[in-house]
Amino acid sequence: MNMAAAEEEFAILTKDLRKEYDGLVAVSDLGLRIRKGTLYGMIGPNGSGKTTTIKMLVGLLRPTSGEAFLMGEKVPAVRNIDRIGYMPQEMGIYTDLSVHENLELFSDMYSIGKGDFRRREAELLGMIDLEERKGSLVSHLSGGMRHRVSLACALVHDPDLIFLDEPTVGVDPELRVGFWDHFRELRRRGKTIVLTTHYMDEAVRCDVVGMMRQGELIAEGTPSELMTVTGAGNLEDAFLSYAGRARA
Ligand SMILES: Nc1ncnc2c1ncn2[C@@H]1O[C@H](COP(=O)(O)OP(=O)(O)OP(=O)(O)O)[C@@H](O)[C@H]1O
Ligand SMILES: [Mg+2]
Repeated sequence: MNMAAAEEEFAILTKDLRKEYDGLVAVSDLGLRIRKGTLYGMIGPNGSGKTTTIKMLVGLLRPTSGEAFLMGEKVPAVRNIDRIGYMPQEMGIYTDLSVHENLELFSDMYSIGKGDFRRREAELLGMIDLEERKGSLVSHLSGGMRHRVSLACALVHDPDLIFLDEPTVGVDPELRVGFWDHFRELRRRGKTIVLTTHYMDEAVRCDVVGMMRQGELIAEGTPSELMTVTGAGNLEDAFLSYAGRARA
């Protein structure tokens, strides 16, 4: 496939993307091809390289070797900044600012008009169910609430390509359902979403699941493909089956 066609089709392309930390291979020559408009779920045990991969894709971490392209632009690309949203696994917001101030700060980093910001803020506060706490300092919120603010900050500029590193950890079940409705809605609007999760009930709701193990992508496909190929009744068993084959 020529590069121009690939740019049209794929939101994310990586070639032999690799990260080593003092000899430890965190991500091993990864070749990812994620089509635009896909809700992509990355699963895998602790330390399998999911966060490292995402950090390289958003340009926060320099790969040891290999390269990545987001919407046809080689990473890191300043041109893409407005089009990418990133919710880090660790705390990505300012605890000494209020919820509103955090959202405003994130929106100021992008070219969003005041009117658009007010509309987006209202919509996102509704999604994370924190309208009442708009003026509260983040340090006064519970852990799950802070997590919800972090998600809203990642989405404030209405990005086309969204990276969410464990977006629903610590979020109560009712809101988790609300988050998923929102992810599906974003996808319907043509956004590309890459998220990581340890919850298999979330992974099955993704269009495509990538299974990581020890820095490698050991399997990739729709949830039903992955289960059919392995004869597993659920994704957890499918993962174990692929992990067993990778070991063999
Ligand atoms: N800054 C760092 N320095 C050294 N090693 C690191 C660093 N960051 C990550 N690692 C190592 O790289 C590997 C991959 O870590 P990574 O955070 O990408 O895993 P993960 O799949 O996101 O795990 P989790 O599900 O726990 O979030 C691990 O072995 C980890 O210890
Ligand atoms: Mg991680």
